[in-house]
Amino acid sequence: MDDKVIIFDTTLRDGEQALTASLSVHEKLQIAQAIERLGVDIIEAGFPVSSPGDFHSVQEIAKTVKNSVVCGLSRAVEADIKACADALSVADQFRIHTFISTSDVHVQQKLRKDFSDVEAMAIHAVKYARKFTDDVEFSCEDAGRTPIDNLCRMVEQAIKAGASTINIPDTVGYTLPHEFGGIINQLFNRVPNIDQAIISVHCHNDLGLAVANSIAAVQAGARQIECTINGIGERAGNCSLEEVAMIMKTRADLLNVTTNIQHQEIARTSKLVSHLCNMPVQPNKAIVGSNAFSHSSGIHQDGMLKASNTYEIMTPESVGISKTKLNLTSRSGRHVIKHRMESLGYQDTDFDLNTLYQDFLKLADKKGQVFDEDLEALVFNIQQQEMQDHYQIESMSVQAANGNFATAGVKLVAGGDSQAYSATGNGPVDALYQAIKQGVADQFDVTDFKIANKGKGEDGLSQADLIITWQERNYHGVGIATDIIEASGQALISALNAIERSKRVAELREQRQKTPQV
Ligand code: KIV
Ligand code: ZN
Repeated sequence: MDDKVIIFDTTLRDGEQALTASLSVHEKLQIAQAIERLGVDIIEAGFPVSSPGDFHSVQEIAKTVKNSVVCGLSRAVEADIKACADALSVADQFRIHTFISTSDVHVQQKLRKDFSDVEAMAIHAVKYARKFTDDVEFSCEDAGRTPIDNLCRMVEQAIKAGASTINIPDTVGYTLPHEFGGIINQLFNRVPNIDQAIISVHCHNDLGLAVANSIAAVQAGARQIECTINGIGERAGNCSLEEVAMIMKTRADLLNVTTNIQHQEIARTSKLVSHLCNMPVQPNKAIVGSNAFSHSSGIHQDGMLKASNTYEIMTPESVGISKTKLNLTSRSGRHVIKHRMESLGYQDTDFDLNTLYQDFLKLADKKGQVFDEDLEALVFNIQQQEMQDHYQIESMSVQAANGNFATAGVKLVAGGDSQAYSATGNGPVDALYQAIKQGVADQFDVTDFKIANKGKGEDGLSQADLIITWQERNYHGVGIATDIIEASGQALISALNAIERSKRVAELREQRQKTPQV
């Protein structure tokens, strides 16, 4: 059996249909291009018959994407299939994906039909789709709950009608891995023409088993996995692309399969999808969560400094994350502090490790996580308050009109001088940040930004967390306020103050280097 597993990405179809606000054509194109760069074989771009907007975006993606096959979804009815063909025909190569339910509950309760009616519709749909392309995929919706005899019968008929890919979805995420792998196994053993099609799987995550089920299916012979970036999709989502791709890479010793995925593109694609879909990734999410390559336990940090494979089974670089993060918290040992100081360019003689470590523990108990600039400030005994006050917001006002356009005015105190600035932006936070930027000489980029609610109800607190990059170094800022915009402004100010603190550290360090040591 071929050892290549085809990756079929349905972020723009199953993923997008689960979003509260739909994506614009431009955003869908951005995602499609990122997915193409990631090395995905097939991109399911949408459901063309569902709306003129979806038709248009599928068509635009079909025009633009060259290295992945673009696919559209259709129910097993001619109008849907025709819409798919019309939207996709601009592409050199395209796939029509048609589906109908096969489980008793869906056939009887949802479709109010007999299995033989559904079988006839499926055969007709596949034959009709073949008039437009040789690349036809047929899905047995709710295959996971379909009696195996019916499933075998449907798969055999769909292949006979001309489907070259047969997809077996666990639509409601109900099966267990050994059970789902068993279904695929039975298809291979019982369907006489099974060798004429690729067997695909499409697992939902209702019980958190979408990835495990997809891998069990690959072990049983499936050679296409349908998945989405960050696992977004209906209800609890779909099988997560980054997880299955990294499982097949990391455990190639057992699975003996490969994919075309460019693994170093994973982090970038995940960030883009999370940002455009407004779907934050949980910090402890495998592969792409912000904690996936960060270590907090002192024992783990010590192990990591000795050999990274003590606690990491894959490198962060392999998925496009620049490096492992050792969080500096009260659980960190002195070894880690020494190592961090060395990586910041300090020598043993620049600080007294015992004193620094005791000061660090006191700060970590108060603050939770300690950042590089805090550590440097401790070395030079810089008072946090003294440096934090370099920038302050004296007052601010923000107006957001309908849509995204907004204007902001801010009175910014910088080094004791107060000045007013105003700006417009794509939304209130952007407008405020543009206004603040006018009062700051340093050129910085906001590279990460998150808002979380603390406490319940409309008057609960909002916490903004951001990272800004200045001169290739990251600075973290946090702001807490009842108002989201105010919290966002404070977060930026706190990161800008962290830059000021690190400038002061650099000055003190230089002075010390010039002073002869006795
Ligand atoms: O979950 C499902 O069954 C689907 C089909 C349309 C493939 O999304
Ligand atoms: Zn689905």
